[in-house]
Amino acid sequence: MSNSIFQHFITLLLLLFFISPTFSQKSFRPKALVLPVTKDSLTTLQYIAQINQRTPLVPLNLVVDLGGQFLWVDCENQYTSSTYRPARCHSAQCSLAKSNSCGDCFSSPKPGCNNNTCGLLPDNTITHTATSGELAEDVLSMQSTNGFNPGQTVSVSRFLFSCAPISLLKGLASGASGMVGLGRTKVAVPSQLASAFSFDRKFAFCFSSSNGVVIFGDSPYGFAANVASLPNVVYDSKSLTYTPLLINPVSTASAFSQGDSSAEYFIGVKTIKIDSKVVSLNTSLLSIDSNGVGGTKISTVDPYTVLEASIYKAVTDAFVKASIARNITREDSTPPFEFCYSFDNLPGTALGAAVPTIELVLQNENVVWKMFGANSMVNINDEVLCLGFVNGGENPRTSIVIGGNQLENNLVQFDLAANRLGFSNSLFARKTDCFRFNFTSTV
Ligand SMILES: *[C@@H]1O[C@H](CO)[C@@H](O)[C@H](O)[C@H]1NC(C)=O
Ligand SMILES: *[C@@H]1O[C@H](CO)[C@@H](O)[C@H](O)[C@H]1NC(C)=O
Ligand SMILES: *[C@@H]1O[C@H](CO)[C@@H](O)[C@H](O)[C@H]1NC(C)=O
Ligand SMILES: *[C@@H]1O[C@H](CO)[C@@H](O)[C@H](O)[C@H]1NC(C)=O
Repeated sequence: MSNSIFQHFITLLLLLFFISPTFSQKSFRPKALVLPVTKDSLTTLQYIAQINQRTPLVPLNLVVDLGGQFLWVDCENQYTSSTYRPARCHSAQCSLAKSNSCGDCFSSPKPGCNNNTCGLLPDNTITHTATSGELAEDVLSMQSTNGFNPGQTVSVSRFLFSCAPISLLKGLASGASGMVGLGRTKVAVPSQLASAFSFDRKFAFCFSSSNGVVIFGDSPYGFAANVASLPNVVYDSKSLTYTPLLINPVSTASAFSQGDSSAEYFIGVKTIKIDSKVVSLNTSLLSIDSNGVGGTKISTVDPYTVLEASIYKAVTDAFVKASIARNITREDSTPPFEFCYSFDNLPGTALGAAVPTIELVLQNENVVWKMFGANSMVNINDEVLCLGFVNGGENPRTSIVIGGNQLENNLVQFDLAANRLGFSNSLFARKTDCFRFNFTSTV
């Protein structure tokens, strides 16, 4: 058998046997699953998903890592489960995870410590620390959804994840026991769920400053209107704007093997406009070069958008000019933000304070990611708000990192089969917010 046919065969085997779902009701096959998310808004600004794992089920708080390679949890602190199984070296699961590494553990066997097991490199993408950890399987359980409410609970009996030492939790929100990776690998959560339930390789997230959702699979996305008398606001593929997802050929993980591509999601920003004027930039920074440097990615672990130094300077200069034209009063800076303004003579709108509009122009002039006050600014107190972009310095790995503040109340969909990213722009324009998904269960 040729290598690629063999790979295919392995994938098929996995589909059939390893990632087999167990349905709480045999006839029920979910079209989509929903994961509730809360934001640790007081300290780390991380988005935390609630997932149930193990037998008996244990509720876990896991930091959402959009570009993460897989789900990893701390197995050192009280991991008890009758369904935990380490994945052997050179097993089909191990090749699905693209690992060749084989580990032993010189202590008594327990979850995270077994001999002859497949090794992965769980990555804390907040502190940029990777360690080694064994690949394992256990039960994972989530609620299904019709796009409007959660429904019946379903589980995957042999969901692949990596164990990590407790030390890897450093830097995560208090109470978090790992990270949930939604990246582009076959063992990341979206691919495993799509295989287990044979649904579209698609997922979407919608986060607000307090909470939100991740929805896996194909479904409409329904949110209650912010006016009680109005009907639900429903998004679907037709109401999103799409841009191609780009592949960065070089891994952006803290530790990786030569030849690995990045598990993160990149898009192609062509120009940036502020109040409709093009900002002059060194455009070579906007594409990804053969070393994997440059380009624009989406990140849920960066709380604010980070711009390479020369882009930061050009964008903030243009923003200051446009603010002067709008008679907005400048205030002292509030680290990490340099450009702050007074709320005085700054009218509020449905889309936030009436500051200059920032537009990321994508594959053509008609495909534009728009940032109004609600996404571009951060409120410091009742009097002051600041431009929520930070300086990434010279020669960063990635030139533009679109972070949490700029993603909030924007429904963002990753259509992996079509290799495209869909976005709604601010939900405020349609009188709703990302925290208005109705979590009242219909079962
Ligand atoms: C792994 O094998 C070594 C050497 O045979 C042994 O000392 C150790 O206890 C084993 N560890 C586990 C977790 O079984
Ligand atoms: C533009 O950026 C590229 C990539 O960092 C760099 O090599 C080049 O010197 C820059 N050009 C200018 C005019 O600054
Ligand atoms: C800004 O203020 C100046 C002087 O007070 C005034 O002439 C101008 O119309 C104002 N511009 C805007 C956009 O409000
Ligand atoms: C949430 O869903 C439940 C069940 O369908 C429904 O009874 C309730 O009215 C909904 N709440 C809102 C705010 O729409």
